[in-house]
Amino acid sequence: MSKRIAFFDSGLGGLTVLSKAMDELPNEDFLFFADTLHVPYGVKKTEDVKRFIHQSIETIVKEDVKAVVIACNTATSLAITELRDKYEIPVIGMEPAVKPAVEINRPTGKRVLVFATAITLKESKYIDLVRRVDDINIVDSLPLPELVEFCEALNFDNNVINDYFLKKLENYDLNEYGTVVLGCTHYPFYKRFLMKLLPKHIQIVDGSKGTIKRLTQILNANSICNLSGKHDVKFLCSNHSEEYLRKMKTALDIFRDIT
Ligand code: DGL
Repeated sequence: MSKRIAFFDSGLGGLTVLSKAMDELPNEDFLFFADTLHVPYGVKKTEDVKRFIHQSIETIVKEDVKAVVIACNTATSLAITELRDKYEIPVIGMEPAVKPAVEINRPTGKRVLVFATAITLKESKYIDLVRRVDDINIVDSLPLPELVEFCEALNFDNNVINDYFLKKLENYDLNEYGTVVLGCTHYPFYKRFLMKLLPKHIQIVDGSKGTIKRLTQILNANSICNLSGKHDVKFLCSNHSEEYLRKMKTALDIFRDIT
């Protein structure tokens, strides 16, 4: 039997990346692992989070998977290099889609607003990325920690979410912006709220498409594609909670329904 492709996140966010993979790779089987013992990552101490990431990936590789997608911008920014050095199987990471966003806005000079976790925004991987691609100084960044909490609670209440975004964005002149980057994999669960709230000219981008494109290239290059998979998803979580396993399935269904 061909092996599964693993997806890893602190919690439910990585499902937004898994969903893209399910669309693009219909003959593969998947494993989704959430580090429920430690979610959320984005507001914790970096040294602790690094340890949680390594523990999680050790559990995942015991499942004999053929590749691991780090479906978490925070984990990628903290550990991708070490993980690639440590494991022989391909490890695919993700980063906020700042480069395409800057290019979209280069002709108009409109600004880019990147939403991501506090850890992602303060790590050198992100700071170097912005320094490299934003030569016209149009990128602003904003952490949205409560959005991860809302997502983990499957809170999609219109009033709560709209009020939250309005408060967070009250000091921004949104007409100055051309693109919003969702740089945390939990945030695409709330894209439809943002679409209603933001001025119509603002594009919303995330890193899922690029990540799955890269995964596909790597599967092909290593000749490890599955031609007979059943699109099966095995769910695991670090606290072994049956309730959370059910919640993951529900969240995946919700996300696939709204996209
Ligand atoms: N979903 C994760 C990310 O893409 C992390 C969210 C969290 O645990 O704070 O950054």
